[in-house]
Amino acid sequence: MTKITPQPGIMEIALYVGGAAHVEGVSDVVKLSSNENPFGPSPAAIEAARRATYELHRYPATDHAGLRAAIGEAHGIDPDQVICGVGSDEVLQFVTQSYAGPGDEVIYTEHGFSMYPILAHACGATPVMVAEKDRVVDVDAILAACTDKTRIVFIANPANPTGTMIDLDDCARLADGLPEQALLVLDGAYAEFELGYDGGASLVASRSNVIMTRTFSKIYGLGGLRIGWGYAPRDIIDVLNRVRQPFNLSTVQLAAAEAALRDTAYTEKCRAENARLRSWLIGALEKHGVAADESHTNFILARFADQGEADACDAYLKSQGLIVRKVAGYGLPNCLRITIGDEPSCRRVAHAIGQFKEGGA
Ligand SMILES: Cc1ncc(COP(=O)(O)O)c(C=O)c1O
Repeated sequence: MTKITPQPGIMEIALYVGGAAHVEGVSDVVKLSSNENPFGPSPAAIEAARRATYELHRYPATDHAGLRAAIGEAHGIDPDQVICGVGSDEVLQFVTQSYAGPGDEVIYTEHGFSMYPILAHACGATPVMVAEKDRVVDVDAILAACTDKTRIVFIANPANPTGTMIDLDDCARLADGLPEQALLVLDGAYAEFELGYDGGASLVASRSNVIMTRTFSKIYGLGGLRIGWGYAPRDIIDVLNRVRQPFNLSTVQLAAAEAALRDTAYTEKCRAENARLRSWLIGALEKHGVAADESHTNFILARFADQGEADACDAYLKSQGLIVRKVAGYGLPNCLRITIGDEPSCRRVAHAIGQFKEGGA
């Protein structure tokens, strides 16, 4: 038998399953399974990426100064407290790698983003799942689950795949109630979809135990390019930078992200259109007897009678070229997560669910 074995925890990892993109035998497919921006990135970001290709022979900046300055300006935060990563996934990885290891506990919630337990296992820590209350993060349950081994608490706010969120007062209560050795990570991948919400930046500014992460993959439409960032107290940023590879982001990534961030009119147009179509889709599904919680994101979580009905609806949608996301793996077997697409896609998915519910399927 081989003596070459992986580190503790690695073999506990259940591989991340991404949203499907193809249906066998169907050509006119609409992908509503990965919470992507249906309008794509800002034209300014595409142009900046194109221009950056003339510099492909040069190594990129190691300090990401241009992008961090733009983030600082856009969010009114200190660029020295910002770190950039290959998607926010990489920033979340820096956090677990730096602050958790064998014998430590990493808390995430019942329907929380599946990368949290993966990242905990990857560094040999123990993921601890805490129940939610009707698909909403339960601060009291998290505080009750903390022990002297808790090192990190992950919550996505707004959350994926539920679309729900807790208010800043509850986030503050959570941060203030944690044991002194524990960090609160507020994952703000969907923060831009909630008008007026700062993603928890104000809590980072006023506390020593809060980290906020953000992404360019959702409202900025740059999921394919992989750029994210984190905002944390200076001493934590210093730690995270020590595990970051010096050239983790390419010239093209940095240029596109900065241009996307500066095109505020485009981002606002995407946010407003998402909000309009989201309300419309929730209303349309309600008419067909399919409920959904209020969503603060670019997707909705449609609830069916049971897993059998959700699976049958998913199969019918697929047959119509509509790919949505099954979420049984998130403890939501009777639900389907549907990304808010453009108007024709929303109309198409509502129409198909109506046909399915009326037995026309
Ligand atoms: C809650 C949440 N956090 C983080 C991410 C990771 O995003 P990225 O690595 O593309 O920035 C996602 C992606 O779907 C997400 O849903």
